[in-house]
Amino acid sequence: MMSFEEIRNYWEGRAAGDSSVQSTTQDVFLREIELNTLSDRIRAFSPRRVADVGSGDGRTTIGLARKFSNIQFFGFDYSPSMVDNSREVLASEGIQNAAFEQRDICNGLSDSYDLIYTTRCLINLPAWAIQKDAIRNIHGALTPGGIYLMIENFLEGQENFNRVRRSFDLPEIPIREHNYYFQRQRLLDYATAIFDVTEETNISSAYYLVSRIVYSKICQESGTHPDYFDAHHRYAAGLPFCGEFGPVRLIAFRKR
Ligand SMILES: C[S@@+](CC[C@H](N)C(=O)[O-])C[C@H]1O[C@@H](n2cnc3c(N)ncnc32)[C@H](O)[C@@H]1O
Repeated sequence: MMSFEEIRNYWEGRAAGDSSVQSTTQDVFLREIELNTLSDRIRAFSPRRVADVGSGDGRTTIGLARKFSNIQFFGFDYSPSMVDNSREVLASEGIQNAAFEQRDICNGLSDSYDLIYTTRCLINLPAWAIQKDAIRNIHGALTPGGIYLMIENFLEGQENFNRVRRSFDLPEIPIREHNYYFQRQRLLDYATAIFDVTEETNISSAYYLVSRIVYSKICQESGTHPDYFDAHHRYAAGLPFCGEFGPVRLIAFRKR
């Protein structure tokens, strides 16, 4: 496991060398699933001010700002180059209702928001104690009754799809050394003292069964290297949510 500093340097280095659509993850169709998931929930809650914590290249924030022109979006990231890249995308798109600022969630947010979301941000904090502080900071920055949409990776879904991979004679996919995945029950035991849970959905299960099992097996048998832009990924991203075979889940929390 990398240290906090090493992980921050990792993201800064990644952003400094690449402002492309794959600068925060190679898995562009997973981001599409996340964007659609957030879009549906934001429509349902109709907040006025929304914060994206760990906004990376800003493309998710900007995609949502484009859909909801009456909502003000704020993207925060601790990597200066990520913030620079997101401001460039923002300027090129001509979107008025979004802004980006450099900020470490471990130091809290200085304003308040009706809805805050994270997409695979808190898994970059290398210990449960640091993740708990970040969740406290998110809670502190929400207006009364505000919503936290947490889209993060969990160990249980990771173990489930790796079990299926083993049964297909595929090697396990390891957790990367800059990531520290959540344990579902431990998270809920902590978070439900300050939040009510309004939804819990594994948003990556069907997608992983097709992209990381079926497509991986086809690649293994044909001796080809998996391609994140392959049609299996594209079609899998349109499947309905079902099962517990992927690491990425949404938990929607309402501030008490
Ligand atoms: C996997 S990327 C995801 C980026 C974006 N949410 C997306 O969906 O593409 C994780 C992002 O979280 C940012 N990050 C990690 N720890 C952070 C922290 N303590 N405060 C703010 N940003 C952080 C990283 O710089 C990186 O841009």
